[in-house]
Amino acid sequence: MHFKLAFIGFGTVGQGLTEILLEKKEMLAEKFDFHWIIVAISDTMKGSVYDERGLDAKKILALVKSGKKLDNYSSGIKGMDSIETIKKTNTNTIIEVTFTDVKTGEPALTHIKTALNAKKNVVSTNKGPVVKDALNLLKLAEKNRVFYSFEGVVLAGTPVINLAKYTLAGNKINGFKGILNGTTNYILTRMEEGTSYEDALKKAQELGYAEADPTGDIEGLDALGKVVILTNVVLEKKITWKDVERKGITKISKEDVEKAKTEGKRWKLIGSAEILKDGTVKAKVWPQKLPLNDPLAGVCEATNALTFYTDELGPVTIIGPGAGRRETGYALLIDLLNINRQQRGDF
Ligand code: HSE
Repeated sequence: MHFKLAFIGFGTVGQGLTEILLEKKEMLAEKFDFHWIIVAISDTMKGSVYDERGLDAKKILALVKSGKKLDNYSSGIKGMDSIETIKKTNTNTIIEVTFTDVKTGEPALTHIKTALNAKKNVVSTNKGPVVKDALNLLKLAEKNRVFYSFEGVVLAGTPVINLAKYTLAGNKINGFKGILNGTTNYILTRMEEGTSYEDALKKAQELGYAEADPTGDIEGLDALGKVVILTNVVLEKKITWKDVERKGITKISKEDVEKAKTEGKRWKLIGSAEILKDGTVKAKVWPQKLPLNDPLAGVCEATNALTFYTDELGPVTIIGPGAGRRETGYALLIDLLNINRQQRGDF
């Protein structure tokens, strides 16, 4: 397929995907018959640019990395907002990577609905719309005969959505438990080495793990969003963010971390959900002091881990990056390659 990509938002994740697409351009064409150009970018901070024949992705990256606005790009139409970019350009696939709001889902929810109604595919790492309305958005995509994919909303490019949907198909998944937030896991790892909470958070921001507003990470809201998504999409039980008990890591002090160490334990922020006998769901995000022989205790840095409890295989665990520029950018490539495969009829 020939993808005419339009980025709505062009922060670290969008730039990460662009780097991967540039570096792997030939391999993707040869191996998967996957071809792409970027026709438009619209970002509230960086401005916007559109050229129906395609933009020079290398020049765009250089421009953005030097801190300049997209208006400085040498050609193309400037000044289109996100909705105009979705509706009025020749794009066939929108990459929605604006900031996340798990409570309202906006502005991404409107972007995605607009794109699907305009019969454009959407790939997105934005958790907000998936938390808010995943099932209806998937129905809207189906109605318009386009795709809406969001592998990167949980565990970044570590493919948990595809794992549950395709690879574990035929199992009944009754629950899950895991480390779902990279920023807090990174902070807890650094604190155990003696780094202060503030310095560890600053470093997590520099490394591109934290959300634009890191309060969502440290207060457990980001992990909560992922619990809601996995419960709705994988356990197929409808819950909202209000149904999840939540506590973040802000109350965990250096002393708590050191005390755990002397007890042979380690603090982790755990997200979980379980289908109970009466069919209801118990969902939670809570810091837990795990013994070091618990497999989740060994998962450090920004690495995430997720165990699905299945009827045929028992617990199945996947461990991998859960955040980061390229790691999350790669999740978008998984979605694009899936669309490519399905449009070619390779499934
Ligand atoms: N801020 C998130 C994290 C990014 O730290 O895990 C990935 O959702």
